[in-house]
Amino acid sequence: MEKRKDFASKMGMVLATAGSAVGLGNIWRFPVEAGNNGGAAFIIIYLLCVLTLGIPLIVAEFVVGRAAHTNTAQAYKRLTRNTFWQQTGRLGIITGWLIMGYYVVVSGWTLAYFLKALATPPTIAAHIAKQPGYWSDFFNELTSDALLPVLCVIAFALMSHFIIVRGVEKGIERFSKVMMPMLFILLIVLCICSFFTPGAKEGLTFLFRPDFSQVTFGTLLSALGQAFFSLSIGMGCLCTYASYFSRDTDLLGTALKVAGIDSLVAIMAGIIIFPAVFSVGIRPDAGASLVFIALPSVFQEAFGAFPWLAYAVSVMFYFLLLLATLTSLVSLHEVPTAFLAEDFRMKRRTATTIVTLSVIVIGTLCSLSMGPLADWKLFGKSIFDCLDWVSANVLLVVGGGLITFFVGWKMESKTLRDELTNYGNYPYHTRKWIIVLLRWFVPFVIFLIFLSGIGVL
Ligand code: PHE
Repeated sequence: MEKRKDFASKMGMVLATAGSAVGLGNIWRFPVEAGNNGGAAFIIIYLLCVLTLGIPLIVAEFVVGRAAHTNTAQAYKRLTRNTFWQQTGRLGIITGWLIMGYYVVVSGWTLAYFLKALATPPTIAAHIAKQPGYWSDFFNELTSDALLPVLCVIAFALMSHFIIVRGVEKGIERFSKVMMPMLFILLIVLCICSFFTPGAKEGLTFLFRPDFSQVTFGTLLSALGQAFFSLSIGMGCLCTYASYFSRDTDLLGTALKVAGIDSLVAIMAGIIIFPAVFSVGIRPDAGASLVFIALPSVFQEAFGAFPWLAYAVSVMFYFLLLLATLTSLVSLHEVPTAFLAEDFRMKRRTATTIVTLSVIVIGTLCSLSMGPLADWKLFGKSIFDCLDWVSANVLLVVGGGLITFFVGWKMESKTLRDELTNYGNYPYHTRKWIIVLLRWFVPFVIFLIFLSGIGVL
């Protein structure tokens, strides 16, 4: 088996982990959730969820990963003899594999939209924007087509393959060090553009002036679910990355940085999207279609007087989405790859190839389930919807529950304490609150999310 390499620099480590967190969850899902739940009030509740639930859970995964210094399936085996708890890591790997299967499909759409934005000259784009229904037809045709989305799935899986195959330091870390700064620059440029749209005032008011009259129990649950997905919690991704952390990495500090970057990107995505949406009078709760159906023409109309600017903004926006998606897919890809390479003593290249091929197969099935295979149903849902539902509403939540319970109650307390304080380098009393949250608060809230996920609440 090849020698295990860690992240080479602190900066690379933080950027790679933040790259896992920043993805479709921030740019696609967050604005939709905020739009559906009243804007600013949702954001405040979301940030509270990140602080009280997200950060303890990130730290919990980091603790397991770094203490065991191996892939997530092996990690629990190294830390406990109890065969039930040993399965926690395996569940994470299965969840990751399934999430990848549908994530790669949506990633493929971002690639198709990026290429479309790039290839459509400003004059034609302006003409298209005047045709009502053009983008919803485009989206429906794209998603139900038998060939194009599958080709995009293959292209995306291969992009992730060629990063993963180069290993943690030369692949993931180097790639994140280039892509993440690029992503921030794009975000800042797009935010600045958004201040100049006609709907800027209205959009920013919606985003930053809280209206708590709209808040319900459902808002809280949506915020919690969003925090889970967006922070990549519950499936061993963070645990796997933490197994490449060095001994002097401050786990709490890294968790705060990753959660901070992730939340900032989500809010910046809101700053980009809402002013544009208000500029053309679309309801901010236009649903999951916001990014793929509403936005393409929104950019055209919002910057209508300057066709080249409209062109540049849409190309940049879809490139941003593509980058964010790729860094997340890479982290998903790494989880089963590390598992195969270490547990089955395979070469990294072989392990990566097996994962890539399996992702292409699952992704293709998912993609076709929106078109030619629409009649194939699992539990009454299409394959795409079924994977999305089972992984986000059930497996991630169960995984998160097991992780918090394991770290809070089952793990050897000395190991937990050593990891939290970096072997006594940080005072224990400043970190004890993490354990209190992991033992009492987080399991209770996860139980609520689980009941709501399966439709009981
Ligand atoms: N956090 C990613 C996003 O926001 C999705 C993801 C979930 C990535 C789980 C890895 C693991 O898009």
